[in-house]
Amino acid sequence: MRDAPLDLHGDGPRRAFGHGKVILLGEHAVVYDQPALGAGLSLGVWAEAGDGTGELTASGWNLRARAGDGTAIGQAFAAILSRLEVDAAKVDVRLGGDLPTRAGLGSSAAIGIAVARAVAAVRGKDAGALALAAAADAEVVFHGTPSGIDLAAASSGQVGRFQKSVGWRPIAVLQPMTLCVGLSGVARDTRAQVDAVRRLRDRTPQVQAVIVAAGAVALAGESALERGDIDELGRLFDVAHGLLAALRVSSPELDTLVHLARGAGAIGAKLTGAGGGGAVIALAPGHERDVLAKWAAAGFKGFMAQIGSSRRDSSLDPVGIATPLPRALGVEAR
Ligand code: PMV
Repeated sequence: MRDAPLDLHGDGPRRAFGHGKVILLGEHAVVYDQPALGAGLSLGVWAEAGDGTGELTASGWNLRARAGDGTAIGQAFAAILSRLEVDAAKVDVRLGGDLPTRAGLGSSAAIGIAVARAVAAVRGKDAGALALAAAADAEVVFHGTPSGIDLAAASSGQVGRFQKSVGWRPIAVLQPMTLCVGLSGVARDTRAQVDAVRRLRDRTPQVQAVIVAAGAVALAGESALERGDIDELGRLFDVAHGLLAALRVSSPELDTLVHLARGAGAIGAKLTGAGGGGAVIALAPGHERDVLAKWAAAGFKGFMAQIGSSRRDSSLDPVGIATPLPRALGVEAR
């Protein structure tokens, strides 16, 4: 799947793309204004907008929703149209893509960005800042109080550092790196995990030190990326996984994926995103196929993703990705 350029000339429907993402370091800490690192994936979601009656469909996912209906996707669609001041009754959007969902890979942000940009383009609105604000409104529908890192990575597609009070800063990665992404097969619920960490921090003030440490690990990861020090980044992945486990957002499946990866030669592995379910990432230079094979033998799907490549279409090797989208969006397939 490739990002089709927006056709800003002519009267036809407009197509836009939102990238999936992985959080390399700093998830959860980022909610408390600590720095975090994110990386866009070339996997993602495309949206095509044109004249219509307020319908959002994804035929590949057997999904049909209306702006403002009772579903999360319908509410998110309405929020986008409202921010863009577009008449809901007069626009249709079609969605497609290749991103596993409810896996912490940023599918909701990718959808928000793609839909907002496509609708903005077809109605002659600002496909930059205004579309980003519209996608942020959609993220609130999906996730409550998101930090914004998913959206930043979904819109930029690059590796960057994100901090709530500062925003997104691209990182000049010295050399591209291949990540193994392993799917636990357990849906994660970002809002529930963020709330659980907040309760833990409220009850046990020492948890704040874990959050600050996770932010420091993210900063160290940034300098490792700039130096091209993959070994150090791997060690930081391991430290980060331990800190996330201390925040109680790991799970038996995520821990199993991490340990299998390390056993197959990974130099570091951690859960990525909100946790509880979702995905892990592993750095295993020269052993990527071994990691995927170990995961597959244990019944877990996985794929490779290159990050930090200057090429937009960084090489991706999806292996057995077939995750239905609709459940992620709070709707049942029809
Ligand atoms: O939705 P996910 O799984 O990509 O996780 C989001 C990352 C958190 O830091 C847990 C929440 C946030 O809003 O940043």
